[in-house]
Amino acid sequence: MSNLLLTNIKQLVGVHGNNKLLRGKELAQLPFIENAYLLLEDGYIVAFGKMQEVTHLQIPISDTLNLQNQLVLPTWCDSHTHLVFAASRENEFIDKLKGLSYAEIAANGGGILNSAKLLNETSEDVLFNIAWQRLQEIIALGTGAVEIKSGYGLCVAGELKMLRVIQKLKKKSPIPIKASFLGAHTYQLEFKENHQAYIQIVINEMLPIIAKENLADYVDVFCETGFFSPEETKQICTAAMQYGLKPKLHVNQLNSIGGVKTGIELKSVSLDHLEVMEEEDIKLLASANSIGTLLPTAAYFLRMPFQPARKMIDSNCAIALASDYNPGSSPSGNMNTVVSMSCIQMKMLPEEAINAATINGAHAMEIANELGSIAVGKRANLIVTKKIPSLAYLPYSFGTNLIDKVFINGEIYKS
Ligand code: NIG
Ligand code: FE
Repeated sequence: MSNLLLTNIKQLVGVHGNNKLLRGKELAQLPFIENAYLLLEDGYIVAFGKMQEVTHLQIPISDTLNLQNQLVLPTWCDSHTHLVFAASRENEFIDKLKGLSYAEIAANGGGILNSAKLLNETSEDVLFNIAWQRLQEIIALGTGAVEIKSGYGLCVAGELKMLRVIQKLKKKSPIPIKASFLGAHTYQLEFKENHQAYIQIVINEMLPIIAKENLADYVDVFCETGFFSPEETKQICTAAMQYGLKPKLHVNQLNSIGGVKTGIELKSVSLDHLEVMEEEDIKLLASANSIGTLLPTAAYFLRMPFQPARKMIDSNCAIALASDYNPGSSPSGNMNTVVSMSCIQMKMLPEEAINAATINGAHAMEIANELGSIAVGKRANLIVTKKIPSLAYLPYSFGTNLIDKVFINGEIYKS
């Protein structure tokens, strides 16, 4: 049995005494230990404390790493991505620069439908290989757990293919992955005027196989004008819940049409996007158990107003941050950027943003018992920063790579 002792850590950040979901004011509480040690063994955190107390450790140490002037944090928990996709869509990006809106691009058969066409033409093996590369890339950027959605198949074969790719990623991945079934992402053109025909396929043809093969942990629906109404969302989620899939939903990205209310009624684990929030939506979310997952890079990329994070936190909502990594609205899975942008554009404090991207992100994937903070018994998935002056320097110095090492299961990650 070998262990590794990290010594002289300038700040050991995120030493929460319990795994509680943080809401409102609690989000600003990010406990840390200055001049700390951290002991890792067999992939887990087994002890930590002040450097002066390191001599109290009564066990033989196999390896030591001196981290003078470096900070250690739990890895990011990215609870909302679409990182299985066939190809990038920078042509649409150019169209947008020329003035077309997201809705106009979608109406012209671009957007999600473009990704669906490409995905359905791509083999499972090829999809797996490119998704695997993206997974490696985000781990190197400090992501230590991730949720991945289907939703670019939009037919039985395509959705199952995507979910099987995610299942294979789960098996091979060194970090935990949660799978969400997003068959209700949009409608293929043939179902545009007949939503129920597609919804019946989702419910009667996709869900039974997904349940039988254990291909998903959650159900997601894009609840939005021109996509799925709150009633349709409820219909799909109710069917999925009978198979044990809890909802994690896309709501209030472009319009407030009742998605928050419906999502709360469905006891959704999280309600994601939330660019467009009415007073009433914020109030409802503040008194609900559902986590509000904000995706600021999607708002940025689509030039939408940023999510009202400050107002939501001040109203006592539980907030998580995620990347929304996808080819259409957030072609980046860099959680460092997400954290930085949340501070710069949404006025979240560094402590709030880091909590939202770690412990609350873990809650949004229901894995807070194993990740999201520094605690004995948790997985040793850690970010070791370069030598930096303080924690606030992380979001402040946006766009700079401040990660020296990423530990995954107690080992330095090498892709
Ligand atoms: O989360 N809004 C819905 N789905 C994605 C975008 C998907 C796409 O454009 O390919 C999102 O932003
Ligand atoms: Fe999304």
